[in-house]
Amino acid sequence: MIARRVAEVADLVTVALDELLPRADGPDARLTEAMRYAALGPGKRLRPYFALEAARLFEIEERPVLRAACALECIHAYSLIHDDLPCMDDDDMRRGRPTVHRAYDEATAVLAGDALQAAAFEILADPDTHDDAEVRAELIGRLAHAAGARGMAGGQMIDILGVRDDIGAVARMQRLKTGALIAYAFEIPLIIARAPDAQRQSLLMFAQDLGLAYQIIDDVLDHEGDADLLGKAAGGKDAARGKANFVTLLGVEAARARVAHLADQAGAHLEAFGKAADPLRASIDFVLGRDR
Ligand code: IPE
Ligand code: IPE
Ligand code: MG
Ligand code: MG
Ligand code: MG
Repeated sequence: MIARRVAEVADLVTVALDELLPRADGPDARLTEAMRYAALGPGKRLRPYFALEAARLFEIEERPVLRAACALECIHAYSLIHDDLPCMDDDDMRRGRPTVHRAYDEATAVLAGDALQAAAFEILADPDTHDDAEVRAELIGRLAHAAGARGMAGGQMIDILGVRDDIGAVARMQRLKTGALIAYAFEIPLIIARAPDAQRQSLLMFAQDLGLAYQIIDDVLDHEGDADLLGKAAGGKDAARGKANFVTLLGVEAARARVAHLADQAGAHLEAFGKAADPLRASIDFVLGRDR
């Protein structure tokens, strides 16, 4: 049931992104091709799924949410291109295919990331996304915050510098590098619905717990996942590089216990939404039970 809805959303997003991204023609075709290679590849599209599922808590149209979710997916794709570069995680495989700098080259990968980031804000600034300029400005401002120094990019910096054996510091790093963009998925419907503060707080606390749990599962899968299934490197690559994460610091069992605790805590934040939040509640276990 949830798997079907996630797959449906993935198709919607791929079709919409295909329309929104520049076509590969002209002298810069290498750049637009690389952008499309990264953004249209077989990602799970979980962030758009969260945005669309959370949107059902409110009486809002799906179209603006889908467009904003595409902008978020552009930022996510950009973050993965740069994360895989030799100067960062130096990875060769992503989503079951060569990473962008392997399929093209490093300069193209850097530029494709840059241009996907710009494309995200161009989509949000377009009146086709929402007719109210204030809503557009808030969507833009919050995405900029989630992607920037106090969000994903800041978290990536802390990850690269390396966090020593301090679980609190690792949690703060994960909340930035992964949590901020996942939380933005929930901010999209909150902003579009102009939801009251109490609802914003509950849903964002849910998002925080879910986002952290999502990254801990990513760390577990790095340790014990199947590289073919994951479509990216596994086999304890983080540990081999001396990266601190929940698994390298606590071990798999304690990391999984932490995920279970976060899942309970996340569910509790949905109480205010009653039965309407049942699909979101059900998606906690689906998302955290993933093997890819
Ligand atoms: C991978 O994100 C990087 C993390 C922040 C954990 P996803 O697991 O959502 O990757 P795709 O989009 O499905 O490839
Ligand atoms: C990546 O974290 C987070 C971002 C891209 C912002 P990881 O480095 O753990 O992600 P994977 O394992 O390469 O997908
Ligand atoms: Mg990384
Ligand atoms: Mg990585
Ligand atoms: Mg990882």
